[in-house]
Amino acid sequence: MYSPDEQRQLFNLTKELLKTPMPEKADADFAASLRKTIAYHEWRYYVLNDPVISDYEYDMLFKKLQKLEAAFPELKTPDSPTQRVSSDLTEDFPTVEHLVPMLSLDNSYNKADLVDFDQRIRNYLDLPEDYIIEYCVEPKYDGGSIGLIYENDLLVRGATRGDGYKGEEITPNLRTLRSIPLRAAFSKRGIAKVELRGEAIMRKDIFEKINKARENDGLPLFANPRNAATGGLRTKDPNETAERKLDAIIYHLGYAVDDQGNDLLPILGTHSAAIDFLNELGFIVPIHNENFPERTIFHNINDIVNHCQEWQDHRDDYPYEIDGMVIKVNNIELQNRLGSTAHHPRWAIAFKFKAKQATTKLIKVEFQVGKTGVITPVAKVEPVQLAGVTISSVSLHNEDFIRNKDIRLGDTVLVERAGDVIPYIVKPMEELRDGSEQPIVFPTHCPVCHSELVRLEDEAAWRCENPECPAQIVQRMIHHVSKNAMDIEGLGESTIERFYELGWLHTIADIYRLDYDKIAQLEGFGPKSAENLRKAIEKAKKQPLHRLLHSLSIHHLGVKASKLLAAEINYLFDLAEWDEERFTRIKDIGPALAHSVMRFFQNEKNIKILREMEALGVNMHQTEEDRPKAVNTEGPLFGKTILFTGSLARMSRKEAQAKAEAAGAKNLSAVSKNLNILVVGESPGSKLKKAQALGTVQILTEDEFLELTGG
Ligand code: IVH
Repeated sequence: MYSPDEQRQLFNLTKELLKTPMPEKADADFAASLRKTIAYHEWRYYVLNDPVISDYEYDMLFKKLQKLEAAFPELKTPDSPTQRVSSDLTEDFPTVEHLVPMLSLDNSYNKADLVDFDQRIRNYLDLPEDYIIEYCVEPKYDGGSIGLIYENDLLVRGATRGDGYKGEEITPNLRTLRSIPLRAAFSKRGIAKVELRGEAIMRKDIFEKINKARENDGLPLFANPRNAATGGLRTKDPNETAERKLDAIIYHLGYAVDDQGNDLLPILGTHSAAIDFLNELGFIVPIHNENFPERTIFHNINDIVNHCQEWQDHRDDYPYEIDGMVIKVNNIELQNRLGSTAHHPRWAIAFKFKAKQATTKLIKVEFQVGKTGVITPVAKVEPVQLAGVTISSVSLHNEDFIRNKDIRLGDTVLVERAGDVIPYIVKPMEELRDGSEQPIVFPTHCPVCHSELVRLEDEAAWRCENPECPAQIVQRMIHHVSKNAMDIEGLGESTIERFYELGWLHTIADIYRLDYDKIAQLEGFGPKSAENLRKAIEKAKKQPLHRLLHSLSIHHLGVKASKLLAAEINYLFDLAEWDEERFTRIKDIGPALAHSVMRFFQNEKNIKILREMEALGVNMHQTEEDRPKAVNTEGPLFGKTILFTGSLARMSRKEAQAKAEAAGAKNLSAVSKNLNILVVGESPGSKLKKAQALGTVQILTEDEFLELTGG
């Protein structure tokens, strides 16, 4: 439909239009450009299921056109995208008319938008300012919307949203979804015919599983759960739909009449009551209880904004992909009075989360040398906003990653950032290439010390093997002082680099003989910060042995393995005496790690540095207090996290924690989403409330805990 050339032009035009301020006169060319680009993006989204811009960017284009047409009505054309609801109709399925239009939702992005929404409702209904409007807030599920019709309690038809007025009839496919009852007792409320609306959606864990299986079978992977769901709805083979294990979540009852055709919706009273009724009949709905705020009632906009923000922060913990929240006027009579515009109901609005995906241009690739000499290619991209932060560099991991995805210099790339996860490149947008893109050439020599790079068998990484490579030295020092290693506060990356350039640091031992008088004279430092640094370094000298081990940048030796090794020794140099067999007697320590630790301790240079550190007062001994405990993988609480609150009657807090650890559990210090078990003693306080609110924490009494752990 669109040639690669046209697509490229439209994409570039899009970015330009987004940057251009609104014209002040009736600019017909500008309006035509907006129409053209919007139509293109609708095709990418609805037909190909593969958008090239974020929803946010699309909305901004659309709003620009709407505004322009409102200011200069003469610019409006019959084919303007503002004149219809966008559509996913194809010729593959019979088209059917919805009983009530399935309109889309207006979008909001911040508090001001929601305040406007509330004000529009008040103005429209002529409500006084102090009138309390009840709102119901739910997640905005990111799947494929569906409409279901039941007649005399039987499912008779299921359809996609289509253009909002007509959809595609996909009843055989929808009948395979276990969460869509084929029969539901609507008649007990006198309802003879209903139309429900909801979302067919794939759970994130199922998406991961299905993609893994597809990878094993050599099938192309689904880009995201939404594509997997919408594709599953519109396949020709209902068996294929069934295999995708979709859930149908119902969030709207749009039409309900008795056998005389009388409207029964107002009798249900509120949206929330209607949804509760559907829940009773066996549908999956956004649940409403005090432990889990999936469907929550609010009476003011401030609370709604906070609630939406909280969901945005925790969206990654939720089993389904959601791209925002939906705010609905709860009272059905008010909903009816408000009605709809041609596009969306006036009584509901979506609060959109910050986009997790965006497209940007790959400008160049830098090759960074890590602490063990691994070369990591890093893409420098044109800065883009992703989930609220500006991204300008993205790791490309290794050469295979670049080759498998065929990423080239000058490509427009799709970048994603989910929650706290570091951004990554999903794919290059091949259709936007103009032939000027260049392959990424991997260096043959270290970009810093110029020694030849090697690629070890079974490893994806190219590595600089020169232990004197300045880049590695600096990276090793940065690692040595980092949070999980010696944890030296006030000695960050840039300070290390600065001290290195001043010639003060050659090895990690030099960190322990810094001259604080000289530091106090540096710009940006002073006696106070030099003294603080001295204290932090003195403190680090006493760190437990496993931290020291981890801080040495021994290849393969992470936090966990460092603890396993440290648990077995009394003195760091014991390890220098070990042979491979002694290493591999420890569960979870393999030959690769054994080799790498042995090689490290066979290297005289390393021993010399460690001896210097010992002389400077760095702890090299194991104490019983610090000795990491072996985790009991057979214990009844293995893999669980636990927390105690309130006063315990039969043991001290310390004893309880030791007991939990002996049973394989890990003690946490606060209630968080990572907590599995809360043991509650006398007068528990806020921790219990918090855990209950999470809804995912198992709550035990002291006796139940003792029983579980064997008395
Ligand atoms: S209510 C008449 N509630 O988001 C209004 N829609 O971008 C009925 N959506 O077209 C819609 N979660 O397909 C509603 N909790 C929810 C929703 C939801 C997802 C979809 C819906 C709509 C689209 C708008």
